[in-house]
Amino acid sequence: MGDLMATPLLFPTTLSSHATSLFLILHLCLYVCLSPADIISTVEFNHTGELLATGDKGGRVVIFQREPESKSEPFSQGEYNVYSTFQSHEPEFDYLKSLEIEEKINKIRWLPQQNAAQFLLSTNDKTIKLWKVSERDKRPEGYNLKDEEGRIKDISTVTSLQVPVLMPMDLMVEVSPRRVFANAHTYHVNSISVNSDYMTYMSADDLRINLWHLDITDRSFNIVDIKPVNMEDLTEVITAAEFHPHHCNLFVYSSSKGTLRLCDMREAALCDKHSKLFEEPEDPSARSFFSEIISSVSDVKFSHSGRYLLTRDYLTAKVWDLNMESKPLETYQVHDYLRSKLCSLYENDCIFDKFECAWNGSDSVIMTGAYNNFFRMFDRNTKRDVTLEASRESSKPRAVLKPRRVCAAGGKRRKDDISVDSLDFTKKILHTAWHPNENIIAIAATNNLYIFQDKLNSEMH
Ligand SMILES: *[C@@H]1O[C@H](CO)[C@@H](O)[C@H](O)[C@H]1NC(C)=O
Ligand SMILES: *[C@@H]1O[C@H](CO)[C@@H](O)[C@H](O)[C@H]1NC(C)=O
Repeated sequence: MGDLMATPLLFPTTLSSHATSLFLILHLCLYVCLSPADIISTVEFNHTGELLATGDKGGRVVIFQREPESKSEPFSQGEYNVYSTFQSHEPEFDYLKSLEIEEKINKIRWLPQQNAAQFLLSTNDKTIKLWKVSERDKRPEGYNLKDEEGRIKDISTVTSLQVPVLMPMDLMVEVSPRRVFANAHTYHVNSISVNSDYMTYMSADDLRINLWHLDITDRSFNIVDIKPVNMEDLTEVITAAEFHPHHCNLFVYSSSKGTLRLCDMREAALCDKHSKLFEEPEDPSARSFFSEIISSVSDVKFSHSGRYLLTRDYLTAKVWDLNMESKPLETYQVHDYLRSKLCSLYENDCIFDKFECAWNGSDSVIMTGAYNNFFRMFDRNTKRDVTLEASRESSKPRAVLKPRRVCAAGGKRRKDDISVDSLDFTKKILHTAWHPNENIIAIAATNNLYIFQDKLNSEMH
């Protein structure tokens, strides 16, 4: 299988000429539309990709499970079905500050599986919860003192003793809260990240990062604090944070000023001094009123290898080498045609949208979202890129995704091109996830979830 996937893909001749820029032939394998209120706010595969969790604005978590391969239906592999749905967070009220705390799920992180059950962390603005997801397919029957519904029997009717037995029943997925990590964040939690020691995790808000032990809920250690003594001196906030995938002492956090700081917990308990600062010097000729806003980093992800960092800012995605702090190794233009529209994007607040980014399993391709339900992929080796669209119309099951093209205002327009002026800025793809070792991606487009799979890959099954 691996050999076949590595061979160059051939493009069906029916595709438009734009297809030459395509390196993945993706087709839809699942489309779920939640109710309009349930805007998806995060998507996350588990470490083997068999489970996918989404969180939404209504505080719900929906878990999808990949169907095992079946001999009778060779195409069925790769299809994800709803496995479990539960309410993770409820709206709350902070009486001290007279503030409503939204139930919206900001992030979900899976813990690696250690026993028959699965565990995940979910967080809203303030409170992180650890959930246990387990299966039950047997139930005890034949109690002596109670009947099948659990009612206590009249003792006088009990004339003999029996041994209760486990009887098979329909599979039931049970979700139960195991821990609640509360009262540690004054500001809004934007990231959670499980450490590679699998015993600790961190949670980051606008100004602080805390380190938790997964078993201890009443205490956390503050490892980064950038809150100035006088809040009027505040010039920078933390936008995202993540642990290194293999070195449990290293983590990175990004800021609204476009910088990345790598910290080493072995150096000091409070990592206020970073070990490395990654920053691209600003080009003075390109400076404008919007420079600082568009350079704010909205997401940072370590590569699977741990060697690189992927960041997203408003207009670009960047790959950084951990060994080079002075500038990014690679810069990819996500939607440079918006550069002339920054003024109106500022007026409608879109300029503050926080787009996430993702690596594929072998760190060779990166993916990130854009407007008009478009998302972009960049092949780091061939330097090819593609714009694809997650839409209900173009996505019949097994339909191949057609590359899209946006032409800048005044540019030469080809058939099927979309002009910048007709892009829909209310349709944005902020959250995406890539299966850890296959070409399967999950795309959240407002209240719709799309899962696309590499066509050749799925046909080989
Ligand atoms: C991911 O979920 C699947 C399905 O429940 C499970 O078999 C697998 O062990 C999980 N992977 C990890 C690393 O937790
Ligand atoms: C990453 O993408 C490339 C290009 O499509 C593909 O060859 C490779 O198999 C992908 N890696 C994984 C682990 O999916």
